[in-house]
Amino acid sequence: MTEFIHRFEPATNAGSPPMLLLHGTGGDENDLLGLGKMISPGSALLSPRGRVLEHGMPRFFRRLAEGVFDEADVRRRALELGEFVADARQRYGIAAPVAVGFSNGANIAAALLLLKPDVMAGAILLRAMLPLSDPPKPELGGKPILLLSGQTDPIVPATNSAKLAALLSESGASVEHKVLSAGHQLSQADVTLARNWIGTVATEAA
Ligand code: MLT
Repeated sequence: MTEFIHRFEPATNAGSPPMLLLHGTGGDENDLLGLGKMISPGSALLSPRGRVLEHGMPRFFRRLAEGVFDEADVRRRALELGEFVADARQRYGIAAPVAVGFSNGANIAAALLLLKPDVMAGAILLRAMLPLSDPPKPELGGKPILLLSGQTDPIVPATNSAKLAALLSESGASVEHKVLSAGHQLSQADVTLARNWIGTVATEAA
């Protein structure tokens, strides 16, 4: 098993789903803890640090240029992350988590959904793009996914996030895709929409 440096915070509310927090390029395991608490107060938080370094900045997979991915590495690293999550679930006694990924973290979450759909119960993908040019079509069986894109995002073209949303929907996920008046950075609207969305998902699962 590949170990990831990570933070784990146990749940303070047993009814809230565990969250898997996946940071953006140059972030680390501490970055999204605050966001996780805002989106889903009381949830257990599992927050790994990406194992790839790009000029010293942690990421979850290698890229050749901005938006151009080393896809063999995407596949390998997604599976490694999947193993880590399975192991952490046993270690900490948590259910399958809902991923909250930002940017590079959203891209690895998307890859994991496509390659190993059972690892996560659902996902909030913030500024995600299609991580694989020849993606598999998994059976996502109604898995809830919230995709929040930025209208003026200079990194993720609108056509790309639309393709990701279509692929996830065609694979059977229950996808909500919203394009916010924002760029690549997160806005207050992301937090509000994510919090409202997780509320409805948690209620449906209860
Ligand atoms: C990526 O490399 O995953 C995307 O370009 C987003 C980023 O990390 O800048």
